[in-house]
Amino acid sequence: QSLLPAGYTLRALRSNDYERGFLKVLEVLTEVGNHTKQEWLEQFNYLKKHNHEYFTITITDDKKDVVVAAGTIFVERKFVHKNGLVGHIEDIAVDGNQQGKKLGLRIIQALKYIGAQRGCYKVILDCSEKNIPFYEKCGFKQKEYEMAWYV
Ligand code: ACO
Repeated sequence: QSLLPAGYTLRALRSNDYERGFLKVLEVLTEVGNHTKQEWLEQFNYLKKHNHEYFTITITDDKKDVVVAAGTIFVERKFVHKNGLVGHIEDIAVDGNQQGKKLGLRIIQALKYIGAQRGCYKVILDCSEKNIPFYEKCGFKQKEYEMAWYV
């Protein structure tokens, strides 16, 4: 496990990360929507209450006090593998100006660690073809195919 570059902090998502630009960072992934503070808190409070299932971490730039990277692990309960747990890594995002500084790698390392600590027997994720080399560097192997149905 390698360290964060100086001047950055990795920590759990906080309610006032709304003001620190957390949602803006997610815009590298897809359309996010304009959340009011109330709409943000609705989702934040749900996730916090269920933090044994959903855990979101961020990396902040200490000087600017803004969020520059984020990621989530969702822990799914199964019957197979004798009530096994599977970790799903979701919504890995690094601000466009901060990519290439190993922040994405640190987010993944931390989420893998959380998954292992929770007792997951595996941690999986879906990604685009162009991100395969990144996830391979993070220790993942390509397996199966992703299927999607959009309502
Ligand atoms: N192709 C080849 N290698 C790559 C790529 C790539 N597209 N991206 C990163 N790498 C390599 C880096 O060169 C580095 O290699 P090194 O250790 O040999 O130097 C290693 O992977 C780690 O790279 P980081 O610096 O940690 O990558 P970064 O912080 O830029 O984060 C990420 C990568 C998350 C893909 C970022 O570029 C990003 O936010 N992209 C836009 C959003 C996105 O696609 N998110 C992932 C969606 S999939 C999901 O959420 C499950």
